[in-house]
Amino acid sequence: MRLVAPSLLAADFMHLDKEIEMINNYADILHLDIMDGTFVPNISFGFSVIDSIWKAVKKPMDVHLMIVHPEKYIKKFAEKGASMISFHLEAAEAAGIDPGEILDMIHDCGCKAGLAINPDIPVDKLFPYLEKADYVLLMSVFAGFGGQKFIEETFDRVKAVRAEIDGRGLDVSIQIDGGVTILNADEIAEAGVNILVAGSAVFKSEDPKQSMDIIRGVKPSAE
Ligand code: DX5
Ligand code: ZN
Repeated sequence: MRLVAPSLLAADFMHLDKEIEMINNYADILHLDIMDGTFVPNISFGFSVIDSIWKAVKKPMDVHLMIVHPEKYIKKFAEKGASMISFHLEAAEAAGIDPGEILDMIHDCGCKAGLAINPDIPVDKLFPYLEKADYVLLMSVFAGFGGQKFIEETFDRVKAVRAEIDGRGLDVSIQIDGGVTILNADEIAEAGVNILVAGSAVFKSEDPKQSMDIIRGVKPSAE
């Protein structure tokens, strides 16, 4: 089964109530991009926005930390209602902390734990942590901004990670984030992805429900 996780970054922030209603009705997961202006050049939103939405969100919240020192904020995001939390391996390395320790911290807070990497990080750097991760997040654009073009080399990276996961008999999901569209979703899923994050392809769509159905592989019904 593949799941669609719309990224709130692409939402209309003047009408967040309507956007959340759409998520509650049609999405599988809500993806929240947390950017600090240091790990990535962009700044997204913080706790005041999350405080406003989390009581209204009925789907699992997936927090994607694009911040330095992710270890400092895990407990807080778990308290805000996150079900899934991912952080970047690059950020853990820069902070001098074993990514395995941060995965444990996320589990200790009762959340599913994800390990993310940017497109220029070799995928085998994920392999020592697969036993501890519930999911790995392969960025298909460089983290920082929505609306970028999907990097085609990602397909081979997904296949390599899927082969490693399946070869070891593990139950680890692969999440893809960046440049997902209704046109490339099938190929992404066929490569071995089970969670597709999509910002622009959902929120900028004229028919977000239909776009989500196509991205999750449900054929539109003839009405
Ligand atoms: C990029 C973010 C993505 C982004 C995806 O740094 O992690 O979640 O919002 O946006 P689209 O789907 O528009 O590429
Ligand atoms: Zn993201």
